[in-house]
Amino acid sequence: MCGIVGFTSRNKSAVGPLVNGLRRLEYRGYDSAGVALESAEGIKVYKQTGKVAKLDNLLSRALPESERGKYTIGIAHTRWATHGLPTVANAHPHVADNGSLALVHNGIIENYAALRAGLEKRGVKFLSQTDTEVIAHLIAAFDKGDLLAAAAEALKRVEGTYGIAAISEKHPGEMVVARKGSPLVIGVGEDDIVVASDVSAIVAYTRQVIYLKDGDIARITPNGVDIHTLDNSPVTREVQEVDWDIGAIEKGGYEHFMIKEIFEQPDALANTIRGRLDPAGGTAFLSGLSLSPRDLAAVRRVVIVGCGTSLHAGMVGKYLFEKLADIPTDPEQAAEFRYSNPIVGPNDWVMALSQSGETADTLAAVRESIRKGALVSGLCNVVGSTIAREAGRGVYLHAGPEISVASTKAFTAQVTALLMMALKLGRTRRLSFEDGDRLVKEISRLPELVKKVLEGNEAIAKVAEKYAKADDMFFIGRGMLHPVALEGALKIKEVAYVHAEGYQAAELKHGPIALLSEKTPVVALLADIPGKEKTLGNVQECRARLAPVIGVVTEGDEAAAAAVTDALTIPKTCAELSPIVTVVALQLFAYHVARLRGCEIDQPRNLAKSVTVE
Ligand code: G6P
Repeated sequence: MCGIVGFTSRNKSAVGPLVNGLRRLEYRGYDSAGVALESAEGIKVYKQTGKVAKLDNLLSRALPESERGKYTIGIAHTRWATHGLPTVANAHPHVADNGSLALVHNGIIENYAALRAGLEKRGVKFLSQTDTEVIAHLIAAFDKGDLLAAAAEALKRVEGTYGIAAISEKHPGEMVVARKGSPLVIGVGEDDIVVASDVSAIVAYTRQVIYLKDGDIARITPNGVDIHTLDNSPVTREVQEVDWDIGAIEKGGYEHFMIKEIFEQPDALANTIRGRLDPAGGTAFLSGLSLSPRDLAAVRRVVIVGCGTSLHAGMVGKYLFEKLADIPTDPEQAAEFRYSNPIVGPNDWVMALSQSGETADTLAAVRESIRKGALVSGLCNVVGSTIAREAGRGVYLHAGPEISVASTKAFTAQVTALLMMALKLGRTRRLSFEDGDRLVKEISRLPELVKKVLEGNEAIAKVAEKYAKADDMFFIGRGMLHPVALEGALKIKEVAYVHAEGYQAAELKHGPIALLSEKTPVVALLADIPGKEKTLGNVQECRARLAPVIGVVTEGDEAAAAAVTDALTIPKTCAELSPIVTVVALQLFAYHVARLRGCEIDQPRNLAKSVTVE
């Protein structure tokens, strides 16, 4: 939610780096954008509704190249609206003290109404409806000559979450940044320092980064970074090296990030698996878990928390843990879990699934579980993310940066990681070496299997053409394919704006079947798992109501192919891997339907990739 960037340099203009940084962070929100630039003449603010490209146009008109050199420091923001409509007035940066101080913010200030009322009583005039503006006025009010001290005083009064960056004409050449609950990373280059909500906006300048911790506040000048706690004690945070480069976050010839990321899955999964299979023991190594066989043997229940696509991966996890490790497993929507006063304790293993590692509800679920003494692990993609750090132990997905708002490769990497965890847990219990060995061999084939699904891309695009105009779709699957049906429906809702619902195949006849007609395609998941024959029966029920059925069927399964109107073919594999190969076909289907409908695939309306508000 919302992206922030800050840039300061000994000799370069901040304008280009700020706009480029915003483009990289646009996945976090894109309803308006703005920059504040400082020169010896003071601070200038430019804001625009809509995407960063519109802001860039505005800047091209307002700031000729010849003028840009004088702005060597600035801050910028791309917004996902929470408080107030996406208007220019509500766009960040927000200013205080007659425009002499400018601030950008990511997060939510929960006590903003009380703070605003207090400031208004003292005569402060507000220009926006945002929660953010109070922070700008508070900092200005506390500024007695030290910007960092003023920001610290202001932030002590704020309840909620924030990542902020502020500049002030009274402190030329200086930027103050701070975080609590919202991510903030500082990139340290030779002559420049760049600050951003995530490293993707930084790697074009440097791979040396400092991850700020919650409660940190820093003063940044081109000469260096000075980090303190809010109580003004200096702290040291190590400089780390990011292990991927700019190529990983560019489209590389693909039309959209979504299709690039779908096609990256063979490599992404190879990375998730690399070094983690133990053929000799018929099990998996997951060193990041730091759990002994004795710790694992003590686990009585697994709880998997997540939101959106990550929740669906967690729902697949339930089947894997129960099947392979005989452990009762409850997937829980993270917000519901955290507010349910959850019953978890030392024998419960709570796994937090999150691509970004920043989702507010999932993070809160982690904190609640730690508080209650449960064993907690994070399964995150973004290295150094808050959930990964707070969970303390976990498994990184290593799927590479995911830019498209709709998640694809993170889902398959999550399911793969869960499968390896279930295998490991199973092998501490009753799963035999033979069964473990069979799985190790099949998991090693996973990148090849996914490649085979991708080879069907053109055929899937043809089927998508037939159904691209449908307004409603149903997705049905049973067992571990039920969450995949939910994920297939979610993908097509997110990127193609088609109303879609996922159901357990057997549940369709308990109501939804009333909606079927020749205008409502049903996507039936028919990979070879126990219960497939029953799903084929449900396919007949749909066809008897004239609904066309698109079947995801195993190659060579002629009976299934004959039962459906159109088939998307997947390679033969074991039940445990069937969710992965099936979902890849559904991702391609959703992508092509969205493309044919002319949708904004990588940045669907109203969505954001990293949801740091509750
Ligand atoms: C948002 C995104 C989804 C994502 C969900 C959870 O809603 O649009 O694609 O699945 O957040 O994100 P996480 O980073 O925790 O996996």
